[in-house]
Amino acid sequence: MMAVSSTLRLSLTLGAAFAPLSLGGPAVGARDSVPPEFVAKPYYPAPHGGWVESWKDAYTKAQALVSQMTLAEKTNVTSGIGIFMGPCVGNTGSAERVGFPRLCLQDSALGVASADLVTAFPAGITTGATFDKALIYARAVAIGKEFRGKGANVYLGPSVGPLGRKPLGGRNWEGFGSDPVLQGKAGALTIKGVQEQGIIATIKHLIGNEQEMYRMYNPFMPGYSANIDDRTLHEIYLWPFAEAVHQGVGAVMTAYNAVNGSACSQHSNLINGILKDELGFQGFVMSDWLSHIGGVDSALAGLDMNMPGDTNIPLFGYSNWHYELSRAVLNGSVPLDRLNDMVTRIAAAWYKFGQDKDHPRPNFSSNTRNKDGPLYPAAIFSPSGQVNWFVNVQDDHYLVARQVAQDAITLLKNDGSALPLSTSQKIKVFGTAAAVNPDGPNACLNRACNKGTLGMGWGSGVADYPYIDDPITAIRKRVPNVQFSNNDGYPWFHPQPSADEVAIVFITSDAGENSFTVEGNNGDRNSAKLAAWHNGDELVRKAAEQYSTVIVVAQTVGPLILEKWVDLPSVKAVLFQHLPGQEAGESLANVLFGSASPAGHLPYSITKRLEDFPDSIANLRGFAFGQVQDTYSEGLYIDYRYLNKQKIKPRFAFGHGLSYTTFNYTSATISPVTQLSLLPPSRAPKGSTPTYSTAIPPASEAIWPANFNRIWRYLYSWLNEKEANEAYAIGSTGSKKYAYPAGYSETQTPGPASGGDEGGNPALWDVAYEVSVTVKNTGSTYPGKASVQAYLQYPEGIPYDTPIVQLRDFEKTSELAPGGEETVTLKFTRRDLSVWDVTLQNWVVPGFDGKRYTIWLGEASDKLLTACYTDTGKCESGLTPPV
Ligand SMILES: *[C@@H]1O[C@H](CO)[C@@H](O)[C@H](O)[C@H]1NC(C)=O
Ligand SMILES: *[C@@H]1O[C@H](CO)[C@@H](O)[C@H](O)[C@H]1NC(C)=O
Ligand SMILES: *[C@@H]1O[C@H](CO)[C@@H](O)[C@H](O)[C@H]1NC(C)=O
Ligand SMILES: *[C@@H]1O[C@H](CO)[C@@H](O)[C@H](O)[C@H]1NC(C)=O
Ligand SMILES: *[C@@H]1O[C@H](CO)[C@@H](O)[C@H](O)[C@H]1NC(C)=O
Repeated sequence: MMAVSSTLRLSLTLGAAFAPLSLGGPAVGARDSVPPEFVAKPYYPAPHGGWVESWKDAYTKAQALVSQMTLAEKTNVTSGIGIFMGPCVGNTGSAERVGFPRLCLQDSALGVASADLVTAFPAGITTGATFDKALIYARAVAIGKEFRGKGANVYLGPSVGPLGRKPLGGRNWEGFGSDPVLQGKAGALTIKGVQEQGIIATIKHLIGNEQEMYRMYNPFMPGYSANIDDRTLHEIYLWPFAEAVHQGVGAVMTAYNAVNGSACSQHSNLINGILKDELGFQGFVMSDWLSHIGGVDSALAGLDMNMPGDTNIPLFGYSNWHYELSRAVLNGSVPLDRLNDMVTRIAAAWYKFGQDKDHPRPNFSSNTRNKDGPLYPAAIFSPSGQVNWFVNVQDDHYLVARQVAQDAITLLKNDGSALPLSTSQKIKVFGTAAAVNPDGPNACLNRACNKGTLGMGWGSGVADYPYIDDPITAIRKRVPNVQFSNNDGYPWFHPQPSADEVAIVFITSDAGENSFTVEGNNGDRNSAKLAAWHNGDELVRKAAEQYSTVIVVAQTVGPLILEKWVDLPSVKAVLFQHLPGQEAGESLANVLFGSASPAGHLPYSITKRLEDFPDSIANLRGFAFGQVQDTYSEGLYIDYRYLNKQKIKPRFAFGHGLSYTTFNYTSATISPVTQLSLLPPSRAPKGSTPTYSTAIPPASEAIWPANFNRIWRYLYSWLNEKEANEAYAIGSTGSKKYAYPAGYSETQTPGPASGGDEGGNPALWDVAYEVSVTVKNTGSTYPGKASVQAYLQYPEGIPYDTPIVQLRDFEKTSELAPGGEETVTLKFTRRDLSVWDVTLQNWVVPGFDGKRYTIWLGEASDKLLTACYTDTGKCESGLTPPV
């Protein structure tokens, strides 16, 4: 969502700034600049939810509830009550009469936002860098418990879009890394952990939000159009969303931008066609904050919830839905059938995660830390009351937060075994990132500054730190008289270090959401590009001139260009902490001083130059008249897929990460599990879905109750009597017809062949092969955890162009003592072995007839140690890998 300040002042300024524009209505710019081959095909009607077996109970309960609701109650629960109107960043209207409460939707993906007494977990990118499924899940369990403890209903995470296509993109760090499988598996485990705590997770942002600048529709210009071909959409960007739906995710958030020229919040092919019919999504779809631009059209296109309720210019008490949706149902434009489906989807998700039983109501306020405050801050003259109950939800979650931060630390280089350090070593520490921001860890609104330890990026994807355990504190616990230059420049007067002294140099790179500009970066890293901030590269170079051993520690949202110093002889070791959250100190010191071996791996490639990528990836799209076009001309070839194809050696490849020990693979085996055919077996027909009367309800169901005490700017679902009667007259007589979009229909369809269950045709998830390998710690000194990454190479001679290798699964061993070993098993599904055929509109297995797929096992995308073959069932080592 859009980062919004928790202070009312900012919100009012925002409102005032847009005031003169509020009358014109939303302007949706012409789409004539979209390249002609990209089309947003119509797909109608919105498929009903409820036909999937695992949601049956929830839908049965939802139907019983929804059938008791009036029109105004139904439209109430599909919309937020307005920005800054309640405790959470999103608050729906309620239907209290029938027992359905207001729902609390809360940021962020890394912890409960704008609240005290919570844990600030490591960011998504850090979590991805662990390549550790058990830890990803454990973090999610803790996050889910904190959201529940604070009384939220909906967790606005995980983020898997942006996927990380552009290294400069502003919000990549909220997700898990620049690969669909890493995003998909980490996203699904996060959903599982969170939803098991009775919290509805939200997979976001659907789709193509790969840069921040020009993402939003506003009265002057439309959001940019991400132009994505069908195969690329399926095999790269949609892949993690399919995984999320397969996991049973309860909610989806659409993206701000357009796809193929049509805004995601009202893109019928994207929501009705791809998400709800092909992927069989059973939960509800919400708009990103203030991105909803078309009332009737978005309803028809499959949007189910309008967030935070306002039109895209907030705070005037106007909404595209609420009273307008009541009107649109009365006047016959939006079929009651569609509204019933929206509400049923929302109520079903609420039942599915047990929120009808003892779910706490919000006991915190996103708007203030005081005990008492306005109940509806945006109303200005609001009644007051208790808004904070100061519930501490932290428990021992710092432990899992620290473990993730520690296991994510990625050792890129370690010449001469410079690390680990001994605690008797003479050490000097340089760089402000070693210490917490002297103004306090939360001094900047939405973390929109880069000062002190960088534990997260900026924008809506943040939480408030309860504290930061900073690196300098943790280092001092081990080496009490360490000297620290809390400065990003090299000191003017600095004594000549002795030969045995070590310099640890901290550098950073920050990014975030477009709602703030930090040091010239508008969200994306448009100004700093991939250089360290605050002249960090220069600080490293200066230290490297004086010291014979320099250890560089980077806190960063994504890749950096390291070429200015990485090859200098005294730069012995480089560690990426990524964005460690509150547990930045002990996690790092444990690795620096050898209590733990580094175990993180790069969730993206680090190139030698940004220009090693093609223009479509390397550069942000600049201003254009009309709609900015972001065309995915590189197709499937992002990150290592592109570099491998072009034979460009990165500085450090995707998946790279060193340890203090070494590992070896033995006894690799591959076994077939399910016999494959070219196409998946045909899907079962959809199950039944709830049915209701479709007659337009009486106008009285939408008329204001007598003597209702309205709160100023609060959004309601009622109309006055005259308006309601007028609308009903149109609807009941059909005297005026809505100008429906081309291709509009109200007849439910059987759904595409590629669908059939949550995530698509259920056979896509059949395991086709399993590969096992025994990993041994072949070192003699340090224990360590090994990452086994499995990359798939498609058969030769197939009629599809495929990337040379693609990550398909990964496993992490437990900590292996020297000499210790463990066997891990990796799984390859039908989908993993398929390609999306744009003509057949289905997943096909091009090598189903006995052609050789090669599964490469390795420690990184460029360190492939063992190959297993699907045709012979054999595995071998000591080969020259294809990349
Ligand atoms: C975008 O356009 C391409 C090319 O026509 C098409 O294959 C694809 O399905 C479209 N995407 C969506 C989401 O409509
Ligand atoms: C809509 O929700 C608000 C907030 O909970 C509530 O005050 C109002 O009565 C609800 N409207 C209806 C029709 O139930
Ligand atoms: C806040 O949540 C706790 C449980 O986490 C619950 O016991 C309490 O009743 C909630 N407070 C309010 C005001 O609902
Ligand atoms: C019905 O109401 C909706 C919401 O105000 C409006 O967009 C639509 O044009 C109306 N339809 C007709 C046929 O009057
Ligand atoms: C690693 O394993 C291979 C067999 O997979 C074996 O040939 C080699 O000697 C082993 N290397 C070490 C260092 O143990």
